[in-house]
Amino acid sequence: MKIEKVASSKRFNRELYFFDRARDGFRYLLNKVSSIKDGIVLLPSFIGWSALEGSGVFDPVRESSMEFDFYAMNEKLHIDIDDLQKKFNDNKVAVFVIIHYYGHIDPCYKEVINLARKYSCVILEDEAHALYSDIIDGKCGRSGDAIIFSIHKMLPLKNGGALGINNENVLEKPNNESAASVIFNYDLWTIAQKRKKNARLLHKLTINLDGVKPLWGSLDETETLQSFPVIVEDVDRNILYEIMNNDGFGVVSLYHTLIPEITKEKFPKSHELASKIMNLPVHQDANIDSLEIMCQKLQEAVHKLRRK
Ligand SMILES: Cc1ncc(COP(=O)(O)O)c(C=O)c1O
Repeated sequence: MKIEKVASSKRFNRELYFFDRARDGFRYLLNKVSSIKDGIVLLPSFIGWSALEGSGVFDPVRESSMEFDFYAMNEKLHIDIDDLQKKFNDNKVAVFVIIHYYGHIDPCYKEVINLARKYSCVILEDEAHALYSDIIDGKCGRSGDAIIFSIHKMLPLKNGGALGINNENVLEKPNNESAASVIFNYDLWTIAQKRKKNARLLHKLTINLDGVKPLWGSLDETETLQSFPVIVEDVDRNILYEIMNNDGFGVVSLYHTLIPEITKEKFPKSHELASKIMNLPVHQDANIDSLEIMCQKLQEAVHKLRRK
């Protein structure tokens, strides 16, 4: 067996096509699929909306001519497999969307992919939050037929999104040669290490907080989070959010408001989550001292709100 001097350009390369935002890549995919396949778009039942951003995941679906449905998520924001199976039984699915929320990979990821594979649909992995869990950790993005990245969400840029195509048999490549190397202009490995360290610290700092708890009981250190989700238990999340931001701690709530198509009657757990979720920053500019102060502030604010 020989070894060539130079590795083949055909192996281990990934077809990434760059757009302004992830949703533009998703729109491209839906246009292509709807022209060749019948069936609905099946999405998770935790999709938000904001006046400023609209709904990055859902707007392309709404704009397309395709029908859609949602599968249930449990209180840990993991996929309810029984409901997913039911949705596949009840519908002809053309595009199945799995979202790696906040950079975390569902414990049933492989099982879900195997399930979806039986129905010959196009599997899209939405990696808007999971750029690092894919590129640095290699935990996602290789099982689906296509992926989307939201580069502007994960790096300090105004624009940047990408569509990746893993399976050329199901999706024609976009005619878009502007292979911006933008993501390689950053030291992604160092950024990911910093995010992991920050998430580890936040997990330690929040696990014993009173009234605020990490969404996930244990932290999987083999993935790189976009933000650190916590559940605000018994005070008003919106007021807590205001207090923290007014004090200079850039917490967000992904997603505080769900799109109207995901109703409280059908998906009560999603609504419960949306009313309590808050995401703490783990990004590369946050340091140990500021995260410690942020968590102290969080505790003080919860106690103050309880006294009111
Ligand atoms: C899970 C998810 N997918 C896709 C998007 C769309 O990202 P972009 O703003 O790059 O279109 C967002 C954000 O809106 C998101 O949170």
